[in-house]
Formats: sequence, C-alpha cells, structure tokens
Amino acid sequence: MAPPPQGGRNYPLNCWWVAALADEVGQEPLARWLLDTPVVLYRGATGEVIALEDRCPHRQAPLSAGKVEGDVIECPYHGFRFGPGGRCVHVPSMASPPPIRVESYPVREIGPIVWIYLGDQQRIDQVPPPPQMDWTTDPAFVMRKGVMPIAANYLLLKENVLDLTHLGYVHAASFGIMDWVNPPEVTVDGDRVTYTQDFVRSPLAAGYAMSLGLAPGMPWNRHGFGTFLSPAAHESGTVFFDPDQPDVPGGQTFFAHLTTPVDAGNMLYFFVAARDFANDAAAMDHFAQILMRGFREDEEILSKVQALSSRQPRRGSRGERSVKADAAGVAARRIVDRWMARETIDDGIDRAATPD
Ligand code: FES
Ligand SMILES: [Fe+2]
Repeated sequence: MAPPPQGGRNYPLNCWWVAALADEVGQEPLARWLLDTPVVLYRGATGEVIALEDRCPHRQAPLSAGKVEGDVIECPYHGFRFGPGGRCVHVPSMASPPPIRVESYPVREIGPIVWIYLGDQQRIDQVPPPPQMDWTTDPAFVMRKGVMPIAANYLLLKENVLDLTHLGYVHAASFGIMDWVNPPEVTVDGDRVTYTQDFVRSPLAAGYAMSLGLAPGMPWNRHGFGTFLSPAAHESGTVFFDPDQPDVPGGQTFFAHLTTPVDAGNMLYFFVAARDFANDAAAMDHFAQILMRGFREDEEILSKVQALSSRQPRRGSRGERSVKADAAGVAARRIVDRWMARETIDDGIDRAATPD
C-alpha cells in the first residue's frame, strides 16, 4: 500500500487536480501552492483561467505579487511581463524580450471547479479527464461550496470520507448521526471504489435533520453512497425515501470532496454540497453553516493524526490495523498506488507500488 506521509510524495503528478473554485479566480492574481509547486491563477482578457508557475525566472519574485493587464502578468520586482503561455513578452530594460519563460499549466473550468494539470505534458492525453459530476452543473441542485486548508496529507481526508463510521464520534456534536455503525457494501470497479449504506425507517438525528430542513426524529429510508473517482475527487450523497413510499425518491444530496496536496503534510480541501429539496437561500445557508462545523471537526482530528504520524512515523501500512469498515479506504490506497506506478517521471525514483 501507499506509504503514509513521511515527507515523501504520495500523490500522482499525472492527474487533474483542483486548483480553485471558479469564483475564487478573477483579474487579481491568486497564489496557490499545489503539488509542491507555486502556481499563480488569474483570468485573461476573455475571462479564461490562466495558470502559470508563480516564480519569475529572473530573480524568483512571486508573479502573484504583481499585476495583471489583459492576458499578461507583470512581475512586481523589475517589471518583466509574461503572456498566458508563459513566454516573456517584455523586459523594460530591453528593446525585445529574451527567450525566457515560466511554466504554464493546462486548466479546465467545469461548473464551479477549476481543474489543473501539473504533470508530464507528453502524457496528458493518456490521463483520465477531470471526473464528471453532472449535478454540479444541474440547476435542480442548489450548491454551497468552500475551500479549507488542512494541515494533513490529502490521503487522510480520502480515507475519512470513505469510512463514515467516524460520524458518531467526530460529528456527534454537529450532525449527530449515530446510526452509521455497520461496514458498508464496497465495490471496486477499475480505479473507482464505491461504498453504499442503506438505512430503513431510521429517525433523523436532530443536527442532521436541521441541516437538511427536515423534521427531527422523522423516520426515513436513506440510501448513502460514496465513490472515489480519482486521487483528486470523491463524490458522495444520500437519497431519501419516505418509508411508506420506498420506491419514490424524496430528495437527494450530493457532495464533492476535492483534495489537492499542497505538500506531504498539507492539503487544500475544496467541497461542493448540493441538494434538490428544501434549497431556498436561507435553508442552504443554514446547511452550509452546519457543514462548515462538521468539516472543522474533520480538520481537527485529521491534523492531530498528521501531527502524531509526522512526529513518530511508522513504516507504511504496517503501523496500522485495518478493520472491515476500512475496506473502501484500503482499496483507494491501492488505486493511488496504481496511479503512481503508471507515471514515468524522469527523476530516478522508482515509484512502483510496494504491496504489503
Ligand atoms: S524578479 Fe521578476 S523581473 Fe526581476
Ligand atoms: Fe467527517
């Protein structure tokens, strides 16, 4: 299995990752560390998102501290200017610019999400495209979204959202969901792993019901599911059914849990949550408040796990004892191993998976 974070890279480079939420990127430069790389994002003259290495090739000033004019970004130090493809287009002290450039990175803006590819450009066509999540562009679903830096390796959040038996502990004070106790059904299909969990006539916990705009204590049948779509993306949700009409869906929630490594001990956690019921603005704002409280509970436990494992690392998965409820998380680790084994990065490091 993939070794836990001990300062080394445990994420594939040849993968589409989330760089930003679409509404974070404007004409002002946005600085991001993504995959151990400084990146600057901004919108060009026609609104398209441009992503460049955030390090001037002259004397290493961050371009994100400079200014954008049209498609061009100007370094704040000596005024070198760079175009959207990364080429230097102006040096104030020269009649014509020298052939220097910064890296430019492919981006794709899909609904509320800006994806970026920082991997081997020769292999981009062989890499799966950003995973499709149709509900993020479906007007029937009203969304709330956000981004949270977490001082933990990105895989810790992957495992967190693949094993919801933590709900009754980490989130007892927020959602109060105490009935997620059994190991879910887990299926692995290629590079995807899905869990499903069904609840029959289970009364809704007070916090959970309030977040959904539903009556506390009311019994519902619930079909919960979650899928590891790629090392970057996890999609989950719940379909609610009136127990007296168990074949008629009574509403649905969706979540995207999008994790981008910053470095071995930090991630950016982008989340999008949506539902197609009780979704007026006030209800959704209330939903977002309770979600944020829940996500901070995850942040607190994950940063503690990271701090402990960084201070006293144990080799690989041998330092952990998994149980049946970890089946989806363990499968996800193996999938990440496969993504990494597929990469050919010419840095002399053999990243082939080392199974237990
Ligand atoms: S460091 Fe950017 S122009 Fe000199
Ligand atoms: Fe959680």
